[in-house]
Amino acid sequence: MNLKSIENIVSLSKRRGFIFQSSEIYGGLGSTWDYGPLGVEMKRKIKNHWWHEMVTSRDNIVGMDAAILMHPNVWEASGHVSNFHDPMVDCKNCNARYRADHVNLDKPCTRCGIKDWTEPRQFNLMFKTSIGPVVDSGEIAYLRPETAQGIFVNYANVQTTSRQKLPFGIAQLGKAFRNEITTGNFLFRTREFEQMEMEFFVHPDDTGKWLEYWSNERLNWFKSLGVSEDKLRLRPHGDDELAHYSSACYDIEYEFPFGWSELEGIADRGTFDLDQHNEHSGKKQQYFDPQTNSRYVPAVVEASAGVDRAFLTCLVDAYTEEEVRGEKRTVLKLSPKIAPITCAVFPLVKKDGQPEKAQKIVKDIRKEFSAFFDMGGSIGKRYRRQDEAGTPFGITVDHDTMEDDTVTLRNRDTMEQIRIPAESVVRALRDKIESLTER
Ligand code: GAP
Repeated sequence: MNLKSIENIVSLSKRRGFIFQSSEIYGGLGSTWDYGPLGVEMKRKIKNHWWHEMVTSRDNIVGMDAAILMHPNVWEASGHVSNFHDPMVDCKNCNARYRADHVNLDKPCTRCGIKDWTEPRQFNLMFKTSIGPVVDSGEIAYLRPETAQGIFVNYANVQTTSRQKLPFGIAQLGKAFRNEITTGNFLFRTREFEQMEMEFFVHPDDTGKWLEYWSNERLNWFKSLGVSEDKLRLRPHGDDELAHYSSACYDIEYEFPFGWSELEGIADRGTFDLDQHNEHSGKKQQYFDPQTNSRYVPAVVEASAGVDRAFLTCLVDAYTEEEVRGEKRTVLKLSPKIAPITCAVFPLVKKDGQPEKAQKIVKDIRKEFSAFFDMGGSIGKRYRRQDEAGTPFGITVDHDTMEDDTVTLRNRDTMEQIRIPAESVVRALRDKIESLTER
């Protein structure tokens, strides 16, 4: 069996509190997952890292946070009402439902072995609901299938208030919903997920240049999370794969146990979205160029990533099983940038002032990093738990600490232990993290 099988990763995620099945006590809801205490920390770190990379560290990108519910005309204008669907077929014998492009219709159903298909039908992927208490007379609303439209409809508001000149970007992070026909592979394809999207507004002649630029920037971001370079690639879309709004696109892909699959799309959306909103709202979506004294509709290069897919990539990539002195060790070799806990602190025994000393060290570490205090079970068991949680460093307070005020600092990956003064723990962590995450 592939050690990095999705089953092993699902099992570790549950055992350590990264991910739980949604509504588990009621038998679970298919393809819907909840982030537990470690999962939520790591997810936040990934999002914060993205926000810093895309917004806080740049002059020419600003952030926003639009509502999930939007005017239904937005989705008419964007083309999602008429174009955002997948072809679906049902097996007439056992009622199994598939995406028509994911099955061979010349062969029998893989579930029941009978070949009796319905004709392919188009199935819109948007979740529909209604606004107000009376369903019949209520106005239709959709749960947004992408966060991007919240950016496009605010283009003019943001451009004028932030006084940005082209080229500039607007970034947003948030939930998106798609009524996918087939889901699966754990967090990879779900009906509720989070996106990290950035729309970069440029002169229409410049999209090619910016498509190249953002494809490389985004690929480098995944590398900076510690993801193995040889498992990442940029793949240009063929003409038959392009979304209805896009004229060129690169996918960033990762080699999962189930094959190379998309993490992020970088797309040339041209002036499609602003043209559509111009036409449907009757409000001009233009840019006034002070240098040429002319007005035009800006084109857009989009970088659209899934938070949950980035999370799954980091988990899969970090998952390692190795043999240590004849015993199996499972360890998540997560970058310290995204590890839920940076450093665990263990008193060797529950007496002689060691727990109090360890608590004081935890307090110091927490001024800068995340820390976890653990005095349950043998020290070996405590190390193993933290290895599985992906905690890069461990500090042990022992008998010698109470004599000479030194502690041991353990490295998760090499398991090497060095003795350092207790008062220099935070500095040592800072140095080690810096050298491990230079990129
Ligand atoms: N605004 C463009 C857009 O939404 P997309 O390729 O449909 O483009 C962008 O989605 C990213 O969102 C994908 O690369 C993926 O990471 C994530 N994503 C899309 N559908 C998803 C799903 N059903 N479950 C989890 N993530 C999904």
